[in-house]
Amino acid sequence: MKKARLGNSDLQITRVGLGTWAIGGPWEFGWGPQDDNDSIKAILESLEAGVNWLDTAPIYGFGHSEEIVAKALKQTKVKPIIATKCSLTWGDKKERTPCLKAKSILAECDASLKRLNIEVIDLYQMHWPTPDEDVEEGYGAMAKCVKAGKVRYLGASNFSAEQMERVMKIHPLTSLQPPYSMFRRDIEEGILPFCKKHNIGVIVYSPLYKGLLTDKFTKEKAAALPPDDVRLMSPDYKMPNLEINLKYTGKLKQIAKRNNITLAQLAIAWTLRKPEVTAAIAGARREGQIKETAPAADITLSADDIAEIEELLKKRSKELK
Ligand SMILES: NC(=O)c1ccc[n+]([C@@H]2O[C@H](COP(=O)([O-])OP(=O)(O)OC[C@H]3O[C@@H](n4cnc5c(N)ncnc54)[C@H](OP(=O)(O)O)[C@@H]3O)[C@@H](O)[C@H]2O)c1
Repeated sequence: MKKARLGNSDLQITRVGLGTWAIGGPWEFGWGPQDDNDSIKAILESLEAGVNWLDTAPIYGFGHSEEIVAKALKQTKVKPIIATKCSLTWGDKKERTPCLKAKSILAECDASLKRLNIEVIDLYQMHWPTPDEDVEEGYGAMAKCVKAGKVRYLGASNFSAEQMERVMKIHPLTSLQPPYSMFRRDIEEGILPFCKKHNIGVIVYSPLYKGLLTDKFTKEKAAALPPDDVRLMSPDYKMPNLEINLKYTGKLKQIAKRNNITLAQLAIAWTLRKPEVTAAIAGARREGQIKETAPAADITLSADDIAEIEELLKKRSKELK
């Protein structure tokens, strides 16, 4: 699998990494019921497919995703690069609580190391820059974790260019983790050029638009999503937008088909066409999924296909309600 250097770091990451949000199981922003054995199989399958890094976060299932990652890694000698996050905490009531206070970040780092059963976190990312006035305090605490040898590199997620500029003064910023897919392209304008200028690696999340950009997503699948599936919070998974989205995934499937690839592979390869994008984080929750998406790291789309996709995406944007 093709690799690329992440920003200013010495991390050579495969152009597709594994995302473990859904693996966290049910919580306020979960993906409905999840079988831990399926999750472990998916993690091990990613390593067998050659993926050399994975992304997790403490908030995914209130520690559960990190714990399942550790459980899976106990079953293999392979030691992937591990990216996790901080800034979203929870109390006894298990309510998502953003906090960037230094004390909280330092405690979060120790808790993640323990749950993940590792001595150092390769990439430590501020999950959300909330509240904005505490961003410097939180990032300063993350830098302390680097000095203490608990973390190798720092990253940000869901940051504006202005917020990145502020934290870069405190400690080198290795990467940004923003949303990016055929169906969500807002980073193309300001964020990607900023990252290019400052050599900040970009690892994009939800490249499959949470599963919609795959061959398996149908009207029936949408109707069968459990009520606590996070996707139901978005109008793109409900009528009338769902129908419009499925019309366009149908057209995109034809482009994939004539290239002998799947829609999921096309969707990921499309995000990787941008030189600023270091890698895509492909979420998987059961066997077969990452096996299909990981090979997208080695797919280069033709200029004609990219232009045709561009036209389709423009039409879709105009039709959305
Ligand atoms: N920093 C942040 O704020 C943030 C936000 C979102 C995500 N992320 C990270 O980015 C990762 C990826 O994003 P994501 O999980 O939101 O979405 P995604 O990668 O766009 O989609 C993942 C989902 O698509 C479905 N899927 C995956 N491979 C498939 C295949 N080959 N065929 C059919 N369906 C397939 C699975 O759900 P079903 O099987 O249920 O359909 C899977 O959970 C996350 O896991 C997380 O690590 C970070």
